[in-house]
Amino acid sequence: MAKKISLGDLPGVGPTTAEKLREAGFSSIESIAVASPAELASTADVGEATAAKIINAARQHAEIGGFETGDLVLERRKHVGKLTTGSTALDALLGGGIETRAITETYGEYASGKTQIAHQLAVNVQLPRERGGLDGSAIMIDTENTFRPERITQMAESAELAPKEVLKSIHVARAYNSNHQILLVDSASELAEQLKGTDRPVRLLIVDSLTAHFRAEYVGRGTLADRQQKLNRHLHDLMRFADLNNAVVMVTNQVLAKPDAFFGDPTRPIGGHILGHTATFRIYLRKSKGEKRIARLVDSPCLPEGEAVFSVTTEGIKD
Ligand SMILES: Nc1ncnc2c1ncn2[C@@H]1O[C@H](COP(=O)(O)OP(=O)(O)OP(=O)(O)O)[C@@H](O)[C@H]1O
Ligand SMILES: [Mg+2]
Repeated sequence: MAKKISLGDLPGVGPTTAEKLREAGFSSIESIAVASPAELASTADVGEATAAKIINAARQHAEIGGFETGDLVLERRKHVGKLTTGSTALDALLGGGIETRAITETYGEYASGKTQIAHQLAVNVQLPRERGGLDGSAIMIDTENTFRPERITQMAESAELAPKEVLKSIHVARAYNSNHQILLVDSASELAEQLKGTDRPVRLLIVDSLTAHFRAEYVGRGTLADRQQKLNRHLHDLMRFADLNNAVVMVTNQVLAKPDAFFGDPTRPIGGHILGHTATFRIYLRKSKGEKRIARLVDSPCLPEGEAVFSVTTEGIKD
């Protein structure tokens, strides 16, 4: 494996250029390695020849993946963990829980339970494996200021965990805009690195909501390509986080009235193929009577489509 280097180590990248690149969402060597010279030249204010040089150097250090044989992939998949949602029906729909080393997108209209599931996972990830947890800690990137420690306390008590301890293993950061959100994945990686050798390694990264800032900032058709490119890079970083830390990555996505995902129907201009090459689960949530919610599994790489009914209660996510 190539030695881990940072942006500033690339030839032709001084502190100013590194800063410009980061601001434009090129937060990792990998993101530069897969960029085009023209794209990089315009974001970093360098000539195309220099940009090409930077990209080449990044490629030598990036793990952008060659080919590997199926048996190696299978071997790696054996280490994939599963995190319980708190509902046995929902877990069953997901083949035993939410998988590590993958991005799971939960989408649905307001109050459909996305943020509730996010809170529940942050508690459950701390459970021992025999109870469906991953003995880990959680990182939350909160873009809508909806993280509520009081809610964690309720859920922890219901799981017979000490609320204070549980809260100590949830690392929350507010993201103020999409650039900040992207940068926070870097901070999350650093934090995960620090906690790696401890008894509470990071096994969960939540981005709630993945798309709200992007939607608000990129308005109008002309900006769609830019938004797409940035989101793409962001998801690439998230996927990498999931892989490197054997972690669950859960992102939420709101839909307005029409039941379609941001990444859903490929005939729509936005999304479509964005997660096409990453292992991804999509869960579409609908409100039902009272505390009941219906989850539908959409486009899973290896599970049948289906639905499960669960409840959002004061104690948390239950059957
Ligand atoms: N303490 C609680 N006890 C019971 N149910 C609760 C509690 N807190 C929230 N809920 C339920 O969860 C719902 C809110 O769900 P949630 O916040 O997950 O929605 P969301 O899908 O994240 O929506 P948005 O798109 O607005 O972010 C409430 O309408 C309520 O039904
Ligand atoms: Mg929410």
